[in-house]
Amino acid sequence: MIDLFAVIGPLLRSLDPEVAHTLTLRLLEAGLVPQRRERDDPRLRQRLWGLDFANPVGIAAGFDKNAEVVGPLLGLGFGFVEVGTVTPRPQPGNPPPRCFRLSEQQAMINRFGFNNQGLEAMVRRLAARRRRRRPGIVGANLGRNKDSTDAVADYVAGVYALAPLADYLVINVSSPNTPGLRALQDREPLAALLSGVLAARAESCLKRTPALLLKIAPDLTPEDLAAVAEVSLEAGIDGLIVSNTTIGRPGLAELPVAAEAGGLSGRPLFEPSTRVLADIYRLTGGRLPLIGVGGIAGAEHAYAKIRAGASLVQLYTALIYQGPRLIRDIRRGLPALLEQDGFATLAAAVGADHR
Ligand SMILES: Cc1cc2nc3c(=O)[nH]c(=O)nc-3n(C[C@H](O)[C@H](O)[C@H](O)COP(=O)(O)O)c2cc1C
Repeated sequence: MIDLFAVIGPLLRSLDPEVAHTLTLRLLEAGLVPQRRERDDPRLRQRLWGLDFANPVGIAAGFDKNAEVVGPLLGLGFGFVEVGTVTPRPQPGNPPPRCFRLSEQQAMINRFGFNNQGLEAMVRRLAARRRRRRPGIVGANLGRNKDSTDAVADYVAGVYALAPLADYLVINVSSPNTPGLRALQDREPLAALLSGVLAARAESCLKRTPALLLKIAPDLTPEDLAAVAEVSLEAGIDGLIVSNTTIGRPGLAELPVAAEAGGLSGRPLFEPSTRVLADIYRLTGGRLPLIGVGGIAGAEHAYAKIRAGASLVQLYTALIYQGPRLIRDIRRGLPALLEQDGFATLAAAVGADHR
């Protein structure tokens, strides 16, 4: 297969990052990006929350905020797609520029602030997929409107709207770009939020109940993490996503662009997010499935997240620098890494570092 991205990639990276992203969405939508041909290695299968994942590599939230290119993303070889963050009402997000490349570091800083078309548009698109019986696992990442006065009500609205249409739902309380959002990770507000969204899911009375996950920041203190683990187990949610972008600038303090406000993603996020993933695995005693995300740029990174406790992984930033070839490289590389360590399946390697 010719690597179209080898040609298009440098061109995209010469454009403003947000323009490049919009163009990428249009290329995917138009079917101009080559689709996957090879099958997944059976050792990479994962069964979680009653869902069969053909491979553990997903596209992280923020790439397809409005569920416009779910089919093409699955076609690139992702094992699952997370759409959003979606807020109840459409909102424009922060003024541009709001996204910055750190090419040498294979990183990004963004302060989009939940720009999205709102729940109604997402419901319309996901309902159309369902009507056409399109296969593939789709999660929906939920947020609150910037001007909302009742955060819990916003998440509850998201659950009611998307529980019938998504395989899993994510309560995103960890984006650094909505003022006050991350305070929802504190013990009391988190307990109230989780009980509210779980009740909304129960009231939805569906044939198939979507899993409910919480996505957390990599910047939590050890005390915060202990509280998140405890409240998550007590509330009875189905898993955690670790992690969102960081407000830290690990190893980047000297760079002028590091002074831009926003969340940092990509390579410099790998170590801090993997540390927090391992902490959460330990604090929850491996009882909650975890999705590991942050700085994955190859099979070794994905494998390290799995050994640290992730049952599935997600990525975003490395795709910008490496293109869709990265997905194939990880799916091909993981079986060899499992074999090297004597694991018959990916599931057997989850949390291996803790044993
Ligand atoms: C441009 C951009 C937009 C993002 N938007 C969202 C979002 O809307 N909701 C969310 O939960 N995470 C969002 N993220 C965070 C990613 O889902 C992911 O957690 C983070 O980027 C770390 O993964 P990575 O290092 O592979 O990019 C965004 C990341 C980037 C780079």
